[in-house]
Amino acid sequence: MEKVVRKVLPLQTAHAQKKIGNETHEQKEKRMAWWTHDRFGMFIHWGLYSQAARHEWVKRWERMSNEQYQPYFDTFNPDMFDPKTWAKQAKAAGMKYAVLTTKHHEGFCLFDSKFTDYKSTKTKANRDLVKEFVDAFRAEGIRVGFYYSLIDWHHPDFTVDGVHPLQPKSEADSDYAKINKGRDWNKYKAYLHNQVRELLTNYGKIDILWLDFSYPNSNGHGKGKSDWGSVELLKMIRQLQPGIIVDNRLDLDEYSDGADFATPEQVKPSELQSEYGGMPFETCQTFSGSWGYFRDENSWKSNRELLTLLITAVSKSGNLILNVGPTARGYFDYRAVHALDSIGVWMKYNQQAIYGCTQAPAEYKAPENTLLTYNPVTKKIYLHLMQYDQSTLTLSGYKGKIKYAQFLHDNSEIKYQPVGDNTNDLQIKLPQKPNVEIPVIELTLQP
Ligand code: GLC
Repeated sequence: MEKVVRKVLPLQTAHAQKKIGNETHEQKEKRMAWWTHDRFGMFIHWGLYSQAARHEWVKRWERMSNEQYQPYFDTFNPDMFDPKTWAKQAKAAGMKYAVLTTKHHEGFCLFDSKFTDYKSTKTKANRDLVKEFVDAFRAEGIRVGFYYSLIDWHHPDFTVDGVHPLQPKSEADSDYAKINKGRDWNKYKAYLHNQVRELLTNYGKIDILWLDFSYPNSNGHGKGKSDWGSVELLKMIRQLQPGIIVDNRLDLDEYSDGADFATPEQVKPSELQSEYGGMPFETCQTFSGSWGYFRDENSWKSNRELLTLLITAVSKSGNLILNVGPTARGYFDYRAVHALDSIGVWMKYNQQAIYGCTQAPAEYKAPENTLLTYNPVTKKIYLHLMQYDQSTLTLSGYKGKIKYAQFLHDNSEIKYQPVGDNTNDLQIKLPQKPNVEIPVIELTLQP
């Protein structure tokens, strides 16, 4: 499998100094308060690649020309597309926001853009699918976000680069020049700005914009802020939608307000950090290896692995956005439905340990094989028992700090007692493992 050229690494050293706007730290916190509270969202990758059903990068991986890709457009017919069902499924899983690919790297638009015919209204679907998504999710009380690919492998003016399906065999500048003859980058840049303007004008209040992605250092054949016109673009975005939350893939790391959140992609729970150059994070993850529907992909994460991602993210003050790749007919396949349902079962009983929660204060150490989340408003610590093979649990340094302990899923009391006279430790006697994938003990702190 080809390695993607980048991964836009968030700044991890000094915090950026330059600024584009003049928002204060407090204003930013307020703007992002719902996102920080809600913690859990749904990503939806859906496009013509869903029909190929072998990864959303299929056009690049198989080096397909526009002509070779055209059958997916000609036959695209999502006869079972029903975003109301998607929204209900997201809600039942406990997801509070959803981000849809309005256009992925393949260039196909799920919305009725004035600036192209390469869009859903010109296919058998014959509808603005983005509009229906927005209406359906809003109706369920789920916030809506747009993913929009900065990259476009269909547009005739998007210059061929190191990740393009038509990348020349040699890296010689002259070969790139030859293949790019006649492509007018300024036209593409205008197209990109125009489409972002459309998306942020025609669909009401949009909560998140997820722009993807920059790869400026690719042998001089990459793209970054000056290509996209990122500063201007971000100014326009903030002007059109002052409340919107924007990801960090515009290549604006040098500006302290060039992004709202970092996007560690497909990382292991152990790789998540509490902080990315002063920014909070949202880790984006798939159920299996692919974002777009991949029929023959079998490495699906277990319920435990998915919950571990969610709990770990929150234990480090971050969010999780979990991706579904609907089939080309427009429904979530049985594996995705199963994964969502199982998360929903856990969330039904344990959501208090996720929403409104964040990293626990440093004085509370997580015992081995546990993760802590903390609600600073209700002053509760949630002890997630990631393994359940011992009969006691020692809470080092917790003596005198806990008022009451219970399982979260059923409010059944958990007994604890000090360990000896000369320590600050408490010991919990664990009951039989309850029928919960990852049981959570709720510790109410002394006021
Ligand atoms: C990457 C991939 C893309 C996916 C995205 C989600 O940028 O190119 O296919 O949409 O990450 O984070």
